[in-house]
Amino acid sequence: MLTVAVLISGTGSNLRALLEAAADPRFPARVIAVGADREADGFAHAEAYGIPTFLVPYEQFDSRVAWGEELTAQLAVWSPDLVVLSGLMRLVPPAVVDAWAPRLINTHPAYLPEFPGAHAVRDALAAGVTSTGASVIVVDNGVDTGPILAQERVPVLPGDDLHRLHERIKPVERRLLIDVVRRIANGELDLVVASVPPSSESSASITETP
Ligand code: GAR
Repeated sequence: MLTVAVLISGTGSNLRALLEAAADPRFPARVIAVGADREADGFAHAEAYGIPTFLVPYEQFDSRVAWGEELTAQLAVWSPDLVVLSGLMRLVPPAVVDAWAPRLINTHPAYLPEFPGAHAVRDALAAGVTSTGASVIVVDNGVDTGPILAQERVPVLPGDDLHRLHERIKPVERRLLIDVVRRIANGELDLVVASVPPSSESSASITETP
């Protein structure tokens, strides 16, 4: 059984979906702890499912590094197999990424590498694109630059505003996240293999002309 810690900042609707999926005894993963960088509304979902929560309030630390050290200490208490960033609206410091990689994944409301960062839905609307999407990635030390594990397009419809578009993206994110966690737990998706960049040798053979 794969054990999962989830980190949130907000309403935690994607967390709730993962908790619902994991409540099925046939699901091969369990959420064992939920953490946040602030008093997140999403803690209520964890409490409803009897899952322990922990708070590492970003504002109370002198630096991102210090916050990351406490986050690392809190995660070590639970020692999960996988850490899921599900709406954690903070950049995780390199020491945390390096400690957990590649067992640290993130959901993102855009079709990466399009629209990375904290305002992906707003940025897609501002760019006037006709489709955006949802992605699940391995976290690396860039901003939403890690290896893509799953992604799907979502159309931008006439009259979409930030809320309407985001609410259409989120169910896709949930489905992708639950499927990725299931595949990791089943051994169908190997995060180490998924994180290996294509070698220069293989890319050379693709581009080579006789
Ligand atoms: C989700 O759309 C998630 O992808 C996004 O915040 C939302 C959280 O919703 N995260 C980011 O934009 C991170 N860059 P939720 O709290 O209702 O699950």
